[in-house]
Amino acid sequence: MQTWTTAAYLIAALLFVVSLAGLSRHETSRSGVVFGIAGMTIALVATAIVAFGSASGLGIALLLVALVIGAAIGLWRARVVEMTGMPELIALMHSFVGLAAVLVGWNGYLEVEGGAAEGGAGGAEQLTGSLLGIHHAEVAIGVFIGAVTFTGSIIAYLKLSAKIKSAPLMLPGKNVLNLGALVVFAAFTVWFVISPQLWILAVLTVLALLLGIHLVASIGGGDMPVVVSMLNSYSGWAAAASGFLLGNDLLIITGALVGSSGAYLSYIMCKAMNRSFISVIAGGFGATATSAAAVEGEHREVNAVGVAELLGNASSVVITPGYGMAVAQAQYPVAELTRKLREAGVEVRFGVHPVAGRLPGHMNVLLAEAQVPYDIVLEMDEINDDLAETDVVLVIGANDTVNPAASEDPGSPIAGMPVLKVWEAKDVIVFKRSMATGYAGVQNPLFFRENTQMLFGDAKARVEDILAELGAHVRTG
Ligand code: TAP
Repeated sequence: MQTWTTAAYLIAALLFVVSLAGLSRHETSRSGVVFGIAGMTIALVATAIVAFGSASGLGIALLLVALVIGAAIGLWRARVVEMTGMPELIALMHSFVGLAAVLVGWNGYLEVEGGAAEGGAGGAEQLTGSLLGIHHAEVAIGVFIGAVTFTGSIIAYLKLSAKIKSAPLMLPGKNVLNLGALVVFAAFTVWFVISPQLWILAVLTVLALLLGIHLVASIGGGDMPVVVSMLNSYSGWAAAASGFLLGNDLLIITGALVGSSGAYLSYIMCKAMNRSFISVIAGGFGATATSAAAVEGEHREVNAVGVAELLGNASSVVITPGYGMAVAQAQYPVAELTRKLREAGVEVRFGVHPVAGRLPGHMNVLLAEAQVPYDIVLEMDEINDDLAETDVVLVIGANDTVNPAASEDPGSPIAGMPVLKVWEAKDVIVFKRSMATGYAGVQNPLFFRENTQMLFGDAKARVEDILAELGAHVRTG
């Protein structure tokens, strides 16, 4: 049985590696998902068989009930979740991984301590000497990472779903608080290894729960994408810690894969947003309160007829989509508009900011879904230098990612974040429903520029209005 389980775990681990490789490219992402599903199925079946072999009748019944309930909830949520709700769902799932790691840690402690109290008879493992010390260190570290992930992910979920404000919490001495918590954690872990008392583990758990809340609450709205991938990484390490406690190699490998890929993704996103990786993972370490310059001026409005006219006279158009395009599900009429303009000889390209929308690659997925050709969808760096020579830029439901304050106002909370320089184009049309701010909660001076006109309303309805008017202004096929 042991050999079969090890073989199944090895195959599952390999499938996870192949899955990650597949998921890193558009063209192979579907096969990546299939490999991932296959790996998870093998892992789950092998684990269930092992558990069935050693569990009592009641244990098997409980395991089956848990599997059925978990699978039903998973299927239901995956079916109903909107793309725009994915980060919230992912954050919530990370919180489950964190909670599971805390429970595994506590269980590991109680089992071994229970066994020791009964003269070594009832414990799951007969650990002595340095092995016992290592076990207690694993418990403390696993519980700590799990608890930080648990509460941190809940705060991330609340922020992403706008149930609490996304602005950073700025407690006085917040960096000292975070560092202090880490020092106390290290000291209590040593103490716990030497003298494994229940109250020390309880203090460690509460400390980690509070640190998780504080770390994520201190990070501002604009940096939330990095937080989600950072929590993804933490959840991986929490799972790996549980793997050590349970003696489960697959959990260790999978946890390490998730932990390291999440850390690398956080690093890439920090680079894309010109943020310090260390600062973000340390809960906005070094960040100080910012105050953006006041934005004043009058904005100009335009209607669908005006935009159709402008497009009719344009020879180059760049579309920069954002979260609002996803909310409005405007990608289909946008694809139709692209097709018609291209048929009329207008050069149309897309400029996608690395954090546009609510998760990495969000816009690329939506545009691919609406069958916009890949080769006209360009990354921010690929299109930024061409914007000054562009006749019309259509900003469809994007805001923070096209905010000139990021490069022009050092006091802005998004200062230093690279943005699409849409304001350099001859004409800019901004599609949104109001003058409200974007996700980072910062006003956008773009709306008041002389070459900008606002087209208010739901992005999908407005693009359809333009499509209806387009025939009168361009030669459509
Ligand atoms: P945002 O800055 O959030 O702006 C979206 C705009 O869309 C809003 O100004 C909103 O204005 C408009 N909008 C919403 N619904 C609309 C509708 N039905 N029709 C037309 N417009 C609509 O989006 P962005 O430019 O894509 O920037 C992304 C932001 O989210 C960044 O700050 C980023 O850091 C953050 N974020 C990103 C991620 C990842 S990983 N990409 C994850 C979490 C957060 P109205 O309300 O006036 O319509």
